[in-house]
Amino acid sequence: MAQILDGKAYADKMLDEVKAAVEARAAQGLRAPALAVVLVGADPASQVYVKGKIAACARTGVTSIERRPASDITQDELNWLIDELNENPFVDGILVQLPLPKHLDAKAALHRIHPTKDVDGFHPLNQGRLFEGLPGLRPCTPSACMRMLKAHGVEMKGKRAVVLGRSEIVGKPMALMLLEEHATVTIAHSRTLDLPSVCGEADILVAAIGKPGLVEGSWIKPGAVVVDVGINRVTELALGERIFAAEPEKLAKLKEKGAVLCGDVRYGEALQVAGAVTPVPGGVGPLTIAGLLRNTLDACEQRGN
Ligand code: GUN
Repeated sequence: MAQILDGKAYADKMLDEVKAAVEARAAQGLRAPALAVVLVGADPASQVYVKGKIAACARTGVTSIERRPASDITQDELNWLIDELNENPFVDGILVQLPLPKHLDAKAALHRIHPTKDVDGFHPLNQGRLFEGLPGLRPCTPSACMRMLKAHGVEMKGKRAVVLGRSEIVGKPMALMLLEEHATVTIAHSRTLDLPSVCGEADILVAAIGKPGLVEGSWIKPGAVVVDVGINRVTELALGERIFAAEPEKLAKLKEKGAVLCGDVRYGEALQVAGAVTPVPGGVGPLTIAGLLRNTLDACEQRGN
């Protein structure tokens, strides 16, 4: 039976560290770090994510500033809003929640954020710093996953790591961070031929492809460390019956409630084969928010005002 990598518990520890640092600043007469969250429109999933981010600010003593422009905001208006936050000396971090409405250019908005305030780590300057192995603000999900793996003593040097997914938010930066720790890294994706055998080589398998239950237990190398970044809402009974064969409670929940959250990995099957595995929910999701608060604190301390 695999060890369960409790992301929620590790995220709580990271948030407690941020809180202690904010209190130490206050004791020195320094202001709290401030995070500005921009939510365009009313996408229901984004509203849930933003609520979690604001709650984490409250819990750690970080000041949160919310900007909620209507979904018909123009690119110019969004740019002005970002410029205003860039220029505000009391704002340390700026997060524009994705996805943006289709008429807006998300890349242009993200590139507009000043690199020193880019707490998502999406600005090309910060991405370039990661590419070069230099310190800088790094994407929250992979950086928090790496912290947790290191805290659990997961050996990476010389190991085979497979990252499933090539997004700029998770897959690509995660691959670079594993490489930095001297893993031998493969990036696999939806067009990769023979995914099961590629995954089967992994001592460390990171699934970030957004396909519920894609990774079967039989794909996993015995003893591997499995990090499941996927957060998928399953509503289809036929799919649930296939992917929850080893998780009768999830199938029952799907039948009862009509929807259930699941990762990219068949958790019940992974538990039988892997050495360690993150659950969904309660795994990587809370780590992402903890990574954001950590980045906000770091951005504040780097800016030094
Ligand atoms: N939407 C989904 N994930 C993210 C994220 O990490 N950052 C932002 N800004 N939006 C997201």
